Amino acid sequence: MSTTNLAAYLSQSSIPPRLAEVLAAVAKGCVEISAQVRRGAAGQIMGALGSENVQGEVQQKLDVLSNDILLALCAKAEGLSAMASEEMETIHPVREVGPEGGYLLLFDPLDGSSNIAVNVSIGTIFSILPTPADSSGRAVTEADFLQPGRHQVAAGYVVYGPQTQMVLTVGDGVCAFTLDPECDDWVLTNPAMAIPAETKEFAINTANTRHWAAPVSRYVEECLAGVEGPRGKDFNMRWVASMVADVHRVITRGGVFMYPWDKREPNRPGKLRLMYEANPMALLVEQAGGASFDGVGDTLDAEVTSLHQRASVMMGSKAEIARLRDYHAA
Ligand code: AHG
Ligand code: MN
Ligand code: MN
Repeated sequence: MSTTNLAAYLSQSSIPPRLAEVLAAVAKGCVEISAQVRRGAAGQIMGALGSENVQGEVQQKLDVLSNDILLALCAKAEGLSAMASEEMETIHPVREVGPEGGYLLLFDPLDGSSNIAVNVSIGTIFSILPTPADSSGRAVTEADFLQPGRHQVAAGYVVYGPQTQMVLTVGDGVCAFTLDPECDDWVLTNPAMAIPAETKEFAINTANTRHWAAPVSRYVEECLAGVEGPRGKDFNMRWVASMVADVHRVITRGGVFMYPWDKREPNRPGKLRLMYEANPMALLVEQAGGASFDGVGDTLDAEVTSLHQRASVMMGSKAEIARLRDYHAA
């Protein structure tokens, strides 16, 4: 079969039709978000709302608009039982779980909010979990969502950059689709994304240097020491401050993305959210041949105790993550 667009890709027999329906609904929502993003200041989407989300962050109009678009469109997918979002305090049940089970959708509707005002790439991140085996015939609870990232049946992101692209995994590699704005169709533009094992690039907010843990400082110092240092080569640093854009670069050409635990808030595992950011990105990175690490173990194996749990995030090229693991073990 020659798979040329998202609809053809989702019709493969290996993808359960009800999962395909949820993914198609997410993709449709992201076409709508993309259209709103493109309007920018010519529309009504710029600026803050004045409200705060459950994370205590000021909500931008586009955060809430994107959330509402995904809620409305995805609720129509028959196989979807409930949704959860970075922007909502608790879960959004859709329908009781049928005898054949259902799906749970989690999303960061608009990632990189600080970049909206400056016209720099932003994105949407999504993760799909199965409903637990004992949930048939009842409504979903928040506890049903508390599953390790390893349970995800699909994950992806959409980057709203110079082009709008969707990067998707259903657990069988990673492919990329580019939105053709002339027909609003997702054209398959990379059927097998693969992260190079080694790299000369890293991404971390170096304004936090003084707060890092020793293994992270060591890793970055050795990169900065360049050809004269222990790595014996010069590195480049990139930080867009939209996780979607930074991880997209890492998946495309290698490198490592880090938002690790730091001393600013020692009791918080990290800034990024496990369920909406770390887990979906970790699955994509692993499926593209890379690895992820939370300072203790694989991100995908981390125990989940609450919906809005934070995580320490290190992900990217395999050899670099192995090095970071060694430095944390030393
Ligand atoms: P969000 O806009 O969904 O809150 O996420 C922003 C995140 C992530 O996208 C990015 O990597 C990080 O925040 C940037 O943080 P700094 O501003 O601390 O660099
Ligand atoms: Mn985010
Ligand atoms: Mn967000």
